[in-house]
Amino acid sequence: MEEKKRIMSGMRPTGRLHLGHYLGVLDNWKNLQDKYDCYFSVADWHALTTGYDKTDVLKENVLNVVIDWLACGIDPEKATIFVQSTIPEIAELNVYLGMVTPQNWVERDPTLKDMAKILKNKQGQNSQIGFGLMGYPVLMSADIMAVNAHYVPVGKDQVAHVELTRDMVRRFNNVYNTDYFVEPQPLLNTCSLICGVDGQKMGKSFNNDIKISDDDTTTQKRIMQCITDRSRVRKDDLGHPDKCEVAFKYWQIFGNENEISNVCSECSAGQRGCADCKRQLAAKINERFKEIRERRVYYENNISEVKDILSAGTEKARNVSKKVLSDVRSIIGMY
Ligand code: TRP
Ligand code: SF4
Repeated sequence: MEEKKRIMSGMRPTGRLHLGHYLGVLDNWKNLQDKYDCYFSVADWHALTTGYDKTDVLKENVLNVVIDWLACGIDPEKATIFVQSTIPEIAELNVYLGMVTPQNWVERDPTLKDMAKILKNKQGQNSQIGFGLMGYPVLMSADIMAVNAHYVPVGKDQVAHVELTRDMVRRFNNVYNTDYFVEPQPLLNTCSLICGVDGQKMGKSFNNDIKISDDDTTTQKRIMQCITDRSRVRKDDLGHPDKCEVAFKYWQIFGNENEISNVCSECSAGQRGCADCKRQLAAKINERFKEIRERRVYYENNISEVKDILSAGTEKARNVSKKVLSDVRSIIGMY
């Protein structure tokens, strides 16, 4: 049997995940885990690059991310789930990669500029770009190369990092005259991009998100805040689904064809009030997440099972990385 190609991807433990993560990332991962040998990492070292002084909820965040993954159907029987910081080999590879990385390669990283801006707006000691943050793209390459992955599913904003990893692979192979590392290819997450209830990018810090872990009532309340067709004042005003800024967009994601065309025609004919429309939408979304949320509650109540899954994942990922690092040491010529 032909060996499955390896996939590696990661997520920073920023707290409970929202529908954007579900639609944009987890749904993709779920499909990939059937066809590939997948390694999914909670990138807690990456979280430290900007949050090294805010570690009080780090552990909790790591567990919450894993619980969200499991609830959404990432299956530990198919995919290897682990926490980055439990694999010291990644840190070791990070050291070796740092040696062959030209300074301007990390300086030109586009997301670094964004992060610098964010840090600049913060008060206090944490407003400097640290050495660790500078090395962020190298560390991400170490993640990918520690399992010598073929593919890296990422969002658009991370493609540049995978490109850099490809450069890094070529550089390493070239410096040490080897073809050991595979040039990984980005797999762009195919997704319906979901905006927040206010029409901006969905994000925890914008307080416009719907969390996977939210209950039905919370979801319903949030959905009632969705922006609709702003030109509509009364229930029997003719509506314009194409100008309905958020609610109809959500219908297009969560409704079936029939429902979407119903909403569309009733709205256009002034036979559908926005409040009712959103109540139905909330019910629809809650129905979609019913099982996921039940599974989430199960894992929340069985944390030891989650920890066992992580231990098993660490062991598996670590065995792969140990082999890679043993090869790397001998390729470089270390003692
Ligand atoms: N840098 C990614 C992010 O912030 C997370 C990440 C860490 C990652 N290591 C990775 C993604 C390896 C893909 C592959 O979203
Ligand atoms: Fe949007 Fe529904 Fe209101 Fe039409 S009825 S504007 S689709 S919320």
